[in-house]
Amino acid sequence: MKKINIAVDGWSSCGKSTMARQLAKILNYVFIDSGAMYRAITLFFIRNQVDLANAEAVGKALQAIHLQFQLNSETGNNEILLNGEHVEKEIREMEVAKLVSEVAALQAVREFAVAQQQRIGQEKGVVMDGRDIGTMVFPDAELKIFMTASVEVRIKRRLKELQQKNPSISVEEVGENLRTRDHIDSTRAVSPLKQADDAITLDNSEMTPDQQLAQALEWANQRIAGRHI
Ligand code: CDP
Repeated sequence: MKKINIAVDGWSSCGKSTMARQLAKILNYVFIDSGAMYRAITLFFIRNQVDLANAEAVGKALQAIHLQFQLNSETGNNEILLNGEHVEKEIREMEVAKLVSEVAALQAVREFAVAQQQRIGQEKGVVMDGRDIGTMVFPDAELKIFMTASVEVRIKRRLKELQQKNPSISVEEVGENLRTRDHIDSTRAVSPLKQADDAITLDNSEMTPDQQLAQALEWANQRIAGRHI
């Protein structure tokens, strides 16, 4: 059967990765969490105290970074490796979340990540989630979904997720991080978060994960069959 690429973009913490991962599983496609790449780059920058204002230092650091995705056969998830090291847990820490949008706004970082993302998409059969997948990485994706949810719902969801690992995290801290990232992501000069003209909006404020998945799957099957929605 014909394979397509599916771009899932949207605001922080609106459930993009959950939906994209499940969709890829059902379709037997590859799921790529592009945010994990920016988070892994950020982790490397923090560990090596890279000065974000120093273009030469940023370029040199990027040359020392090798990112891979590896399938975890137990969970069925694609996990990111930073220079061969499993960093899934570390990249979800608040320390990384606080700096990632500044790192992701750098032109050199975007060129580095986008080139790799486009290579992965060459064979089709990819569901990729992020901020600029439909606009920049796969402008020709057969299906583009723009996910959104109210800011209150998004804060609640992310707080629940983070509190499982760190019970002392506060709603204020999570809310502040989410709003700041949304602001930086949507106002940066290079590839800002923006709905592609041909993306379909999926507001999941009032939807369960199963409902949003069913909707996305219906759209995907229509596009695979070559029908427009
Ligand atoms: O926390 P959440 O799952 O919403 O974000 P993420 O997908 O892990 O992405 C973390 C950060 O990486 C975002 O806030 C953006 O600054 C950046 N990002 C980006 O600039 N472009 C992408 N395609 C994906 C993520």
